Amino acid sequence: MVKMKKGEDKNMGKVAIYPGSFDPMTYGHIDIVERALEIFDKVIIAIAENEEKRPLFSVEERLQMVRAFFEDTPKVIADSFKGLLVEYVAKTNAIVILRGLRATSDFEYEFHMASMNRSLNTHLDTLFMMTSKDYFFVSSRTIKEVARLGGGVEGLVPDLVVRRLKEKFKLPVTKKKQIRWDD
Ligand code: PNS
Repeated sequence: MVKMKKGEDKNMGKVAIYPGSFDPMTYGHIDIVERALEIFDKVIIAIAENEEKRPLFSVEERLQMVRAFFEDTPKVIADSFKGLLVEYVAKTNAIVILRGLRATSDFEYEFHMASMNRSLNTHLDTLFMMTSKDYFFVSSRTIKEVARLGGGVEGLVPDLVVRRLKEKFKLPVTKKKQIRWDD
């Protein structure tokens, strides 16, 4: 009998957990997932339920957007969790936590989080992937701010997310307007 390592099973293969708020999911997140699929057989997008962060979208809305985007990608699973990430990871077959790094400014927060998670579970590693250059300035927080103020976020988040943002902020569904100096 072949002894399976943690994170490998004959149904799932190598699994990575990609945790986050995903409020909402951006193309920066999607880029990380798509590149991770070159390394892992499954990526579980794990949406943290944390009402203290006062999310714009409910967990159900966030899950729905992620599932809709990846509906033709069975290697991506969307789920949500409450409480400690390490406890959630322990219930899955994942071998690593996956996180994207945009810039050095992300590093300190990520370093603390990865170190804390590793002290809670010494078997657990966090794998960081650098965000592609096209998305290094994209964050869910700035996407929400720009959308709330009526700016265009097309191309930075999927169309479905653009529509949901416009619904949330009660904005008309129009095409992106490029602001120019002579406007
Ligand atoms: O997208 P975010 O908001 O940067 O993601 C942060 C997240 C959800 C990964 C982090 O807050 C988390 O893991 N929350 C679960 C609670 C937990 O385990 N906290 C201890 C980690 S230091």
